Amino acid sequence: MNDAMGIGLLGCGVVGSGVARLLLEKSDRLASRAGRPLVLRRVAVRDLHKERPVELPRSMVTIDPIAVIRDPDIQVVVELIGGVTDARQYVLEALTAGKHVVTANKALLAQHGAEVFECARKHERTVAFEASVAGGVPIIAAVSQSLAANQITSIQGILNGTSNFILTAMAEQGQCYEDALREAQKLGYAEADPTLDVDGGDAAHKLAILAQIAFGIAVPFAAITRRGITDLHAMDLRFADELGYTIKLLAEAWLDGKQVALHVEPVLLRKTDMLAQVRGAFNAIQVVGDVVGETLYQGPGAGMMPTASAVVADLIDLAVGRAQRTFQSLKLWSATNTGFTMQSPMEVRSRFYLRLLVEDRPGVLADICKALAKEEISISSVIQHEALDEQEGEVVPLVIMTHSAPTGNFLKALRHIDAQKSISAPAVYYAIAD
Ligand SMILES: NC(=O)c1ccc[n+]([C@@H]2O[C@H](COP(=O)([O-])OP(=O)(O)OC[C@H]3O[C@@H](n4cnc5c(N)ncnc54)[C@H](OP(=O)(O)O)[C@@H]3O)[C@@H](O)[C@H]2O)c1
Repeated sequence: MNDAMGIGLLGCGVVGSGVARLLLEKSDRLASRAGRPLVLRRVAVRDLHKERPVELPRSMVTIDPIAVIRDPDIQVVVELIGGVTDARQYVLEALTAGKHVVTANKALLAQHGAEVFECARKHERTVAFEASVAGGVPIIAAVSQSLAANQITSIQGILNGTSNFILTAMAEQGQCYEDALREAQKLGYAEADPTLDVDGGDAAHKLAILAQIAFGIAVPFAAITRRGITDLHAMDLRFADELGYTIKLLAEAWLDGKQVALHVEPVLLRKTDMLAQVRGAFNAIQVVGDVVGETLYQGPGAGMMPTASAVVADLIDLAVGRAQRTFQSLKLWSATNTGFTMQSPMEVRSRFYLRLLVEDRPGVLADICKALAKEEISISSVIQHEALDEQEGEVVPLVIMTHSAPTGNFLKALRHIDAQKSISAPAVYYAIAD
């Protein structure tokens, strides 16, 4: 066998512990796949005394990440500390010191991808990041390598397991959002602070990375329209169900001519759609290519060992030399112009589900239809439900499904509808994926 590849780990939390375990416990298997031993040499953490799910020799562990980066016996630095500020500094230091980098840090790449990749190219090093999107699901390799003969035309993903777990519990057990979140936290699917998971931020980071690979566009994180699931009401899941749909938090990007439309939002999906059937904490991504047609990738999108599986696959690719060749040919986050630009969120066309709580009296529906018609939005169906048990007086839910229209027109109509006296609560709307 050739020379060993020395590995330095920054971070030994959930994912780092899994990577260390895999490197230490399956070293023979990994060496035979890589053609040379993958040797874990040093591990940097914040707290030397913390108990960890992996046993590491005391001399291997340090609180000094720079010492790991500068160790001459280390050729690859694996960044698994998370966050953006320190991670960015260490990744840039490692590349500058001539080390390849493996990272699972989607926030870092979504926000500083251009800088990180430029630094890597300058120093002729490689950044591998399979674990940054959908954990154990090999979606980066699928889109960047296996589908290389295609122009990707659309990507639709359930990219956050926590929110999918919550939505599944709400849809199947009729739980309210708060109860479903509490259960997710109890079972370890949601952090004590679940903000980034449930507000769509985590999925938007991943979508920014996928949009870069599939369409060559650098989308500033802040420019991605995103809405989370925190305001989702069980009533809307029930009404969607009656119409043959379920609601999923989808990260979507698709080609509309030379423009790429993209957003992260709760979206109505037909129950027969493959993604609608993805339950619990799983991730799934449907990718459509102009040659291959529809493809679907599904699996555990997070967790210690699934994510470690992706990180260590990157390490094997680096040891074999594949990752370096892919990195060079992909030219990610470079100034290369692919001809695609990001579509303005207001121009993105969609069908919409609109739910209103309205006074039950003549003329109300006509006023709403007039506001929609003024913005050239045509209606595909209207259902007036019985008054809700908990509603007082004559307030009834009205569900309107529209035909396709530009988002800007729809939102303009909504402003007029919300201003009407007969409307008892702000309108609730979701895009429909048809
Ligand atoms: N968790 C998942 O399932 C998952 C899935 C996909 C991707 N990711 C990504 O993987 C990365 C790591 O996530 P995680 O869940 O493993 O995080 P975590 O459990 O919080 O672990 C972070 C580790 O980094 C160490 N650390 C933090 N700041 C440090 C610093 N400045 N210097 C040295 N060590 C530092 C911590 O040390 P101490 O242990 O001493 O505190 C800890 O060991 C993140 O970018 C995350 O987005 C995670």
